[in-house]
Amino acid sequence: MAAQFLDSFCNWLAATPVSQTIQTIDWIVPAVQTIHILGVAAVMSSALMINLRLLGVRSYDQSVARVAARFLPFIWWPLLMLLATGTILIVAEPARALQNPVFLLKMGLLIAATGVTLACQLPVRSNAAFWEQSAGRRRAGRLIALTSIPLWIAIICAGRWIAYVQGS
Ligand code: HEM
Repeated sequence: MAAQFLDSFCNWLAATPVSQTIQTIDWIVPAVQTIHILGVAAVMSSALMINLRLLGVRSYDQSVARVAARFLPFIWWPLLMLLATGTILIVAEPARALQNPVFLLKMGLLIAATGVTLACQLPVRSNAAFWEQSAGRRRAGRLIALTSIPLWIAIICAGRWIAYVQGS
């Protein structure tokens, strides 16, 4: 039932004038993919800078709150851009993503990575020294970093693999 609905939804979307326009103008998809990749670079490098601080590998002369304040905008704003460019790529070829298990996996990983990033950000809003206050907090910070880094890498792999796995 759900598969049938998704199938007819993808066919409907692919036949819309906006999808037809994106499909027929050659430069749109490559341009959007390029912007998507730039967004990936911004998110991945910023997440890495915050996680390396949580691991105590980089910028340990600065508080986690300070490093997070500098790099979090370069996660949240590019994520919005990734959502916009990703949506355009979906409208261009709906079945390629929406009926693709790797795309669904990527979205699940993205929800998890967003949750882990918020888990790092929210405590320092009310207490700037939160992650430095005790050995237990520092351990928890390292755990967040050791969860976050593989999650973002997995999202990138899934993003790339969408093109190589056939949808249902
Ligand atoms: C925010 C929601 C996002 C949506 C809706 C989305 C959607 C998509 C879609 C539809 C594609 C094209 C797949 C194809 O047809 O081959 C794609 C590619 C890709 N995405 Fe995303 N994406 C999102 C976020 C992200 C994030 C956060 C990352 C990594 C940090 C990411 C990394 C990639 C990569 C590496 C590719 C392959 C690009 C290529 O080789 O051309 N995406 N994404």
